[in-house]
Amino acid sequence: MKSSLISAKGLGLKIENRWLVRGLDLSISEGDFVAIAGPSGSGKTTLLRTLAGELSPVEGGVKNHLSCPSQTGMIFQDLQLAEGSSVVNNVLGGCLGRHGFLSTLLRFPKEEREEANQFLTQFGLSDKSNQWASTLSRGEKQRVAACRTLLRRPLLLLADEPVSSLDPTWADTVLDHLKSMAFQRKGGVVCALHNEDQITKFADVVVRLDQKNPSNWRIDSLGAETLV
Ligand SMILES: Nc1ncnc2c1ncn2[C@@H]1O[C@H](COP(=O)(O)OP(=O)(O)O)[C@@H](O)[C@H]1O
Ligand SMILES: [Mg+2]
Repeated sequence: MKSSLISAKGLGLKIENRWLVRGLDLSISEGDFVAIAGPSGSGKTTLLRTLAGELSPVEGGVKNHLSCPSQTGMIFQDLQLAEGSSVVNNVLGGCLGRHGFLSTLLRFPKEEREEANQFLTQFGLSDKSNQWASTLSRGEKQRVAACRTLLRRPLLLLADEPVSSLDPTWADTVLDHLKSMAFQRKGGVVCALHNEDQITKFADVVVRLDQKNPSNWRIDSLGAETLV
């Protein structure tokens, strides 16, 4: 029996008197890659932020079964990079939780620096490592955010359209790495995605939100397993 990482029951999400989702039941277990799909404005970001514990649902509840909050990681739609820091220091920000701010003030550990540079090389950014993050294109920034998450290694990754500005090859590379990272550690991924090819390739399950009818969400199983 796979253990559950996070579950939501009877979830009702409302923004400014408009229901986005009602009655959503969802359970994410180790090894699951769950895509969240739906048109722009349908509530994907709101759902992810509710799963992350940043927003409170109006109805129902979310239970995160992980023992420690730092085991849950999020890639935000706006990426939240430190624009005035170098690319490599942004990636190294992923391991701050492990070493503490004070111990990294002087220098990040050598092995973390090496790993950060390895990820940057794998994602075609080795020549950008000392550039300010603010100088990167949107697609390059998305790859930096992915490197930071890979270094952080959360057990449960909540990712909000993390590859929306990447060409299909880079998008597949990033999703492949994020999925492997989670699965090697018996974790899971919940990822808002627009591209149906990516959903078919990577997701076991897709939650489809309906912008017109908040109760009309659907959960489709793409792999062998059923979630709910
Ligand atoms: N803080 C907010 N204030 C007002 N409206 C919001 C706020 N956050 C989200 N919304 C609205 O809620 C709806 C769902 O937004 P969102 O969850 O970002 O959708 P998606 O990620 O699917 O594009 C949108 O209509 C959006 O404009
Ligand atoms: Mg969004």
